[in-house]
Amino acid sequence: MHAPFRVFVSSSLPAAAAARLAGSGAIVTTAESDRALADPRFAASPDAYEALVVLLTHPVDAALIARASALRVVSTVSVGVDHIDLAACAARGIVVTHTPGVLTEATADLAFGLLLAAARRIAEGDRIVRAGGFSGWGPSFMVGARVQGATLGLVGLGRIGSAMARRARGFGMKVLYAQRAPLAEAMERALGVRYVTLESLFSESDFVSLHCPLTPATRHLVNRERLASMKHGSVLVNASRGACVDEEALAEALATGPLAAAGLDVFEHEPVVHPALLSRDNAVLTPHIGSAEGATREAMATMAVESVVAVMEGREAPNRVGA
Ligand code: DGY
Repeated sequence: MHAPFRVFVSSSLPAAAAARLAGSGAIVTTAESDRALADPRFAASPDAYEALVVLLTHPVDAALIARASALRVVSTVSVGVDHIDLAACAARGIVVTHTPGVLTEATADLAFGLLLAAARRIAEGDRIVRAGGFSGWGPSFMVGARVQGATLGLVGLGRIGSAMARRARGFGMKVLYAQRAPLAEAMERALGVRYVTLESLFSESDFVSLHCPLTPATRHLVNRERLASMKHGSVLVNASRGACVDEEALAEALATGPLAAAGLDVFEHEPVVHPALLSRDNAVLTPHIGSAEGATREAMATMAVESVVAVMEGREAPNRVGA
């Protein structure tokens, strides 16, 4: 029998995940409405908790770690972990877990949807119709970019990047990818992808889609220089992390070229969106909804809770970051 552990949950969880946590014998405190980690029951005494379940919008920084002296596990209901100071956790032996895998297909669906919407001006067309601006079919009206047979460059070929590659095959696209190291040849063949340098990826692709985590190395990976190297009429898609893109430079590239369009689900300073992007008709903007699909969100929460229970029961944490 394990001693009950105290867990703070920074936002209410779907019913099944909440029930699993309560059923584990944990003493659970859930943040009130929007208060998250500022809820006084946590903020006043973070040292009272052995486990923390957080969302990607709730930063767990070194100062918080220092105050949470009993903490043994931080479990985030997200695949991204850029909101957590991993070094501070490692220094204290705190296990960090996340939710890879369960959101792969939902996120790839959204990213591919953005690609199509940006290429074929779907959101812009919707706005035109609603504003009464549709005065009839015309041969040059709302002409967009061709997807079938085009070249797609994937920055990062992990789970979500690979799911994009599979979708791209259905559109007869040629798929390039760049990341630290190439995949084994058999995997490249199975996915129908070719490894190139980041420079070639940006200069040869009609569509570039980001599927990399946010790290110091990928912050503003899409900068003014890389944007300038892209093909005339190309499209950028980002459903990873906003800060991978220099938004001001992107807005310029959308205004003066070479980009025809962009599809963005993530922004550098969420929920604020750079005003220069808001004013671009050729930018399709969605509010970080890559994983926003019922079954996916439930699976993410359940996975996060299972990880906490495992650590607190002295078992190996599934989905441990850096394992
Ligand atoms: C994640 O999990 O990191 C996504 O950005 C949100 O679904």
